[in-house]
Amino acid sequence: MDAVAPSSVTEVKAPGKLYIAGEYAVVEPGYPAVLVAVDRYITVRVTPAVSDTGHITTDQNAGSRLEWYRQGSDMLIEPDQDQFSFVLAAVRTVEEAAVASGVPLQVFDLDITSELDDDSGRKFGLGSSAAVTVATVRALCAHYGLELSRMEQLKLALLASTEVQRSGSGGDVAASMFGGWIAYTSFDREWTRQQRGRRPLLELVKAQWPGLSVRRVSPPEHLRLLVGWTGSPASTSRLVGDVQSNKAVDAAWDYSTFLAESRECVGDFVAALDADDTAGVFAGIRRNRALLRSLGEHTGTTIETPTLRRLIESAEAHGGAAKTSGAGGGDCGIVLISRDADIDGLLAVWERADIRLLSLHQHLPDGEDD
Ligand code: PMV
Ligand code: MG
Repeated sequence: MDAVAPSSVTEVKAPGKLYIAGEYAVVEPGYPAVLVAVDRYITVRVTPAVSDTGHITTDQNAGSRLEWYRQGSDMLIEPDQDQFSFVLAAVRTVEEAAVASGVPLQVFDLDITSELDDDSGRKFGLGSSAAVTVATVRALCAHYGLELSRMEQLKLALLASTEVQRSGSGGDVAASMFGGWIAYTSFDREWTRQQRGRRPLLELVKAQWPGLSVRRVSPPEHLRLLVGWTGSPASTSRLVGDVQSNKAVDAAWDYSTFLAESRECVGDFVAALDADDTAGVFAGIRRNRALLRSLGEHTGTTIETPTLRRLIESAEAHGGAAKTSGAGGGDCGIVLISRDADIDGLLAVWERADIRLLSLHQHLPDGEDD
């Protein structure tokens, strides 16, 4: 990224994301998922402060309130309840890199605007915590003139978000950082946590991280991606927590077989995308749906809610391939469907079922990766 003279105004937009395949398995280090960045953004603007006091403002969370839930004896607070916790972690991480690079720190104002939730603050599940972390990391790296590659900035953003969030693969952070369609394999959180305490930050950011990889994949050119919103928000950390706590409760079912099959399914799906093989793309989506359904059944977790099931079955009835996106439990479902299919007919069914089509397109990656 280009170095920008300190004290100028810097504005960065980071896109939201959708999971296409590989969910839940990608939480385990080295397991793959496919994601797409979408053309709705969080914008972070950095301005030198006019006094010795900086401000952080956002157009979100007007009436903020905290929610928590119980997991065993733990009281878990939704990390994404507080967008500022991601912003502050991102600021601290980049500033540690700035100090290590000999760049003097400044006081600034950060102004955040979000298109990832709707005007009434309803969440679509498009990854606002990841996008605000990415936008803040990129804006401050530019503001301080730090010359870090996209991969190195991704590592800063992953370190920042790991401080706030206990679970999660980081696929959402990678999609927002890279844009477009990506295949992602997750880093080893435990390794990273240990290294963080032992090594200087810049050395860690330049090191190879076990499991972590990002590569661009070809979008399915002959297909349309439809995103249906169920109207009910879902908690990713809660769903991932439920799956993790219950992955061994059913003795007749094997979590490691699920992982192996998800890896194979996502590998074949990526190959089909790159070869523009529509039948292979459809088969990949359908197989991944089946894997996630059985994961849900054997761990007692509702991944495919009745509304998501209606969304998927109506899409299948109109010739598309569909599945839940991300953790499921609400939020969105995705459909890949031929541009010639009766999409209007499908949307009429969705309307009757109170499923809202989100007018999203893929976000095109902006330029170089380094
Ligand atoms: O529901 P989302 O879009 O936040 O996606 C979660 C995807 C999981 O694989 C279930 C968890 C993760 O962090 O990768
Ligand atoms: Mg979700």
